[in-house]
Amino acid sequence: MTHSQADPKEVAGRRAAELVETGMTLGLGTGSTVYFYLVALADRIRRGGLKVRGVPTSLDTERKARELGIPLATLDEVTRIDLTVDGADEIDVRFDMIKGGGGALLREKVVASLSQRVAIVVGANKVVHRLGLTFALPVEVVPFARAVVERSLASLGCSPTLRLRDGREFVTDNHNAILDCTFTRAIEDPAALERAIDAIPGVVESGLFVGLAHVRLVGHSDGSCEVVEK
Ligand code: 5RP
Repeated sequence: MTHSQADPKEVAGRRAAELVETGMTLGLGTGSTVYFYLVALADRIRRGGLKVRGVPTSLDTERKARELGIPLATLDEVTRIDLTVDGADEIDVRFDMIKGGGGALLREKVVASLSQRVAIVVGANKVVHRLGLTFALPVEVVPFARAVVERSLASLGCSPTLRLRDGREFVTDNHNAILDCTFTRAIEDPAALERAIDAIPGVVESGLFVGLAHVRLVGHSDGSCEVVEK
């Protein structure tokens, strides 16, 4: 008998839509895994009369949510966010993360920090023992200070590379640049590194997310989803 393989991202994203309750204000994360969540959420809104509104963490998510018919709000219009569902590039055993593969780290961190509950949806390949070995750490910087920030980041033990898209400098939704920082060793102390990076003048935000996630939904290709509370 042959078994068709499930897409782990879809498994996790769809499962996350079950966490949503009517009346909630939602933080809408960014990325391909979150897209599956948005599709399932839109389905629940359409079929089940679920009443929610979402604050998107990127222009990309805003556009997708609009197309799917998910009611939206800006951060200025809400006083609380009940639940945010977002993806990650790496997540460790303490639920600390590297995020920003899609370049949305700044708005993602703002929204996550305001959320009562943050659920992270990933395929099993994103779960790591220690951060920093499989994915470069994105750091958003103001273009004016890029070269000096690059030198300061290098002094912290990484190799920063300017992110490009289609051969041109990648520009975030906030009109900044991204330096992707490669480490040759695992990040020993994510909280200390986050503080050190944030202290560099010209840095807008780092993709280290420490202590922000409450639940991890890990999709597997056999169609199962592990849901683990912190
Ligand atoms: C965007 C992010 C994404 O959540 C992260 O890159 C994961 O993306 P995907 O689900 O497409 O693998 O942090 O800034």
